[in-house]
Order: sequence, then C-alpha cells, then structure tokens
Amino acid sequence: MAKLAILEFPDERLRTKAQAVQTVDDEVRQLVDDMLDTMYDAKGIGLAATQVDVHRRVVVMDVSDDQSQPLVMINPQYTPLGDTQEPLSEGCLSIPEHYAEVPRYLSVELKALDRNGEPFTLEADGLLAHCIQHEYDHLEGVLFVDYLSPLKRDRIRKKMEKRHKLMQDA
Ligand code: NI
Repeated sequence: MAKLAILEFPDERLRTKAQAVQTVDDEVRQLVDDMLDTMYDAKGIGLAATQVDVHRRVVVMDVSDDQSQPLVMINPQYTPLGDTQEPLSEGCLSIPEHYAEVPRYLSVELKALDRNGEPFTLEADGLLAHCIQHEYDHLEGVLFVDYLSPLKRDRIRKKMEKRHKLMQDA
C-alpha cells in the first residue's frame, strides 16, 4: 500500500494533458492500486493519475456508499447519451474544501480498459456519469473551477494559495 501525494490547484502540473497507456502492465496495475489507496485514504470518490503527477490516462473511482466498488478506467472515452445537462455540486481532491455546481451530461456511455487491459463499456448516469466527466477532464488538464466565473475561480485560487502558504509555514 502506498499513498501518493495529491497536487493541488493552482499547481500548473494539473494542466498537463495525459498520454494514452500503451500496455496495461504491472507498472500500470501498481499505479492503479496506489491511486485507489490514495483515493480511499483521502475519502474521495474519484482520482485521475494527473492529480498524483503521473501523466497517463488512468482513472480510479468508487461512488458506492460503503466504498466497496472500485472502478478502474484506463484510456477512458465517453459519449453523452442525449443532450440533457444537469448541475451537481462538485468537489475535487485537488481543490479541498471548495465545492461548486457544475453542469454535466446526465447520462454517458463510457468505454475504457480495466485493470487487466480488457476493454469494457458502461452506461452511467447520475453521480457516476458526473464523476466520469470530472475525472476525464483531469486527463485533459481541466479542473471544475474552469467552469466558474473568473471572479469565483480567483477567489478559490487565493484561498488555496493562502492554504499552501500556511502549510509551508507550519
Ligand atoms: Ni477532481
């Protein structure tokens, strides 16, 4: 079990576009396991490799109530099912203690590789669909604050910078 350090906004490394995984090998599986440990430890429901400064297209997620259903998505792609978007309050392990409503597609079809490199397809709606879109954004270097007004985004940025300064001084 290894806990990885999570990058926090406004760290520029969160803006990196991740590279596709060519082969799902033991190294990728180790990354997946470490990311799951890190996500559960941080009490998150999703984590993208970008957030742990690994710029490969790997996402882990668990939206179950008792955190018993880990989902691994390697090279994820999604297609919206319908045009309906719905705002839902979103948080992010890279932007702790900040939440904002972000509109996302209500339902999506996900295609990805699992932990063994096997392709799978999943129809998702509600929280899972929302989470898939949020995590996919991370792989593209996009954060939920990018959907907010510049004013709101700046306010969060300032609070985060203050937090990092306090952590540094401690
Ligand atoms: Ni996030």
